[in-house]
Amino acid sequence: MISRFYRRAAVIEERGEDYFIPAHPEPRAQSPGFMQVVLGARYSLIDNWISDHYRTCVDEFRILRRQVVLVNAPEHIKHVLVTCNSNYERKSPQMRRALAPLLGDGLFISDGETWKTRRPIVADIVHKRRMPEFAPVMEHAASALADAWAELPAGTEFDLTGEMAQLTAQIVARSVFGQQIGAAAAAQVVDGFSAYQGSVDSFNLGYFLGADAGWPLRLTRRRETAIRMVHSVVESAINAHLSGDGDAGSMIDLLIRRKGAAAADLDLTALRNEAATIFMAGHETTAATLTWVFYLVANAPWIERRLHAELAQVCGPRAPGLADLPRLPWCRAVIQEALRLYPPVPLLPRQALAPDTIAHVRVEKDALVMIAPWLLHRARDLWDRPNHFLPERFVSGPRMSAFAYIPFSVGPRICAGMNFGQDEAALCLAILAQRFRVVPREGYRVEPACRLTLRPANGLPVSVVARKAAA
Ligand code: HEM
Repeated sequence: MISRFYRRAAVIEERGEDYFIPAHPEPRAQSPGFMQVVLGARYSLIDNWISDHYRTCVDEFRILRRQVVLVNAPEHIKHVLVTCNSNYERKSPQMRRALAPLLGDGLFISDGETWKTRRPIVADIVHKRRMPEFAPVMEHAASALADAWAELPAGTEFDLTGEMAQLTAQIVARSVFGQQIGAAAAAQVVDGFSAYQGSVDSFNLGYFLGADAGWPLRLTRRRETAIRMVHSVVESAINAHLSGDGDAGSMIDLLIRRKGAAAADLDLTALRNEAATIFMAGHETTAATLTWVFYLVANAPWIERRLHAELAQVCGPRAPGLADLPRLPWCRAVIQEALRLYPPVPLLPRQALAPDTIAHVRVEKDALVMIAPWLLHRARDLWDRPNHFLPERFVSGPRMSAFAYIPFSVGPRICAGMNFGQDEAALCLAILAQRFRVVPREGYRVEPACRLTLRPANGLPVSVVARKAAA
């Protein structure tokens, strides 16, 4: 339906003997009209940016009555996300309205006192120092997937996006709910989230007409079913833990047992909201990252060879583990570069609580202030060959400002699960790449698109080749 009225941006992808420019929408020559923005937002939020926005800038425009301020320069991003964070800590009402039926007042969309009390509790349970507790879950799930790939008849094709979603869902489900969670329950949560995301519009006309929270989200039967699918699994896992029947060490268990949790009065609904938030925030983002990593590496055989050589040198024939990660710089760099080119959360929208001035722009109260890692990471005056896949920039390139590279955001609201996500992506990549090459279908055109997260619009059909067999 959308495609009948909406002119999608052309997708550019280019490769040569020793370079790869991965798929990205061609910047628009001029600002799109209103209908183009409305329809574009339903298809992909990265489709309608003009060429001038792919450089550092602060720009303002209006969508109906709402002022929209694009902040795309490191020093001004620092202003919004750190120095004046209290004026911009509020997620856009658009995003809150879209996610609240599912996540309630979960950390991702809460602000004010609720966020302040909950942030330390959630941040602590996914903290870096807990990685040794969660890494075995990651190692086990990735190795089990590698074993399953080994059983596939040669040339079997599957969608990598779905496969990575299942892998990271399993990891986060077992980390959040404990080892007993069955595959069917984990799959039900994933299907529920997917159905929900598919049913939510990214554009709310009411918001741009001036209503603070936009028009309320209608709870259609499809949406309600999706919400029930997620909530029922999460609630029964919490109830099992509350009645003493849960895995000690799972994130739910940590949430319940935290002294701060009692002090913060976390009831069943609050526990459910935080557990669902961790699940949502932690599963799609890492799945998207891994999908893009394999797409990039498969198209740059000279990088693939470096990655394989590093794995052979550091791990030999044994499976890579958490302790190996500091000695796998190429593995890390490939992930960092994938997060630069395809930040899973490509837009960070905020609402200004009070008027402010950013560079030359007078920001109105209630303006939608947009920080776009998608644009920042491709700014031509910040990055050398911004559209090229060049993981070496993270091995030996110049050190970039902390505000020029923000796949996990920055400041007080930086991703609480950053270390979890980075280690998970690195471990899964190392374990799978040690045993397999992932080969995209010949001639397949990848189309990056973003509704809530940035993924290949129609998936990524691939097959796998066992490395020993390949050799
Ligand atoms: C590569 C993987 C990941 C990426 C790129 C990523 C990115 C982000 C970004 C950009 C935000 C801030 C959004 C905003 O300000 O609008 C965020 C927030 C958050 N992320 Fe992640 N994330 C990843 C993995 C994870 C994982 C694995 C977990 C949990 C296990 C997690 C938990 C959270 C939570 C709870 C928040 C809300 C923090 C707050 O508002 O205080 N993330 N993430």
